[in-house]
Amino acid sequence: AQADGAEITTIEGLAGEEQTPLQRSFSEHHALQCGYCTPGMLMSATALLRESASPSDEEIARAIQGNICRCTGYWNIVKAIKAASGQEVGE
Ligand code: FES
Repeated sequence: AQADGAEITTIEGLAGEEQTPLQRSFSEHHALQCGYCTPGMLMSATALLRESASPSDEEIARAIQGNICRCTGYWNIVKAIKAASGQEVGE
């Protein structure tokens, strides 16, 4: 009911022939393992980066909080999103 009349984009809607900078950042920062959560994480991150060009760690955590990842411990996902926004990330 919440999506009635809304336009919905899925991960396939982001797919092109090449990886997006966000997808590349997930790979470079080891932000996925089994990949089960990755489509949801990428969609949440894409929505966040459309609203905030340089999100803080707290904003990223809030944006992905509806996605459960049993593999990564989340920190690499936060780093990948932050790096995709052009911000420096620590080791
Ligand atoms: Fe396995 Fe997130 S990478 S659940």
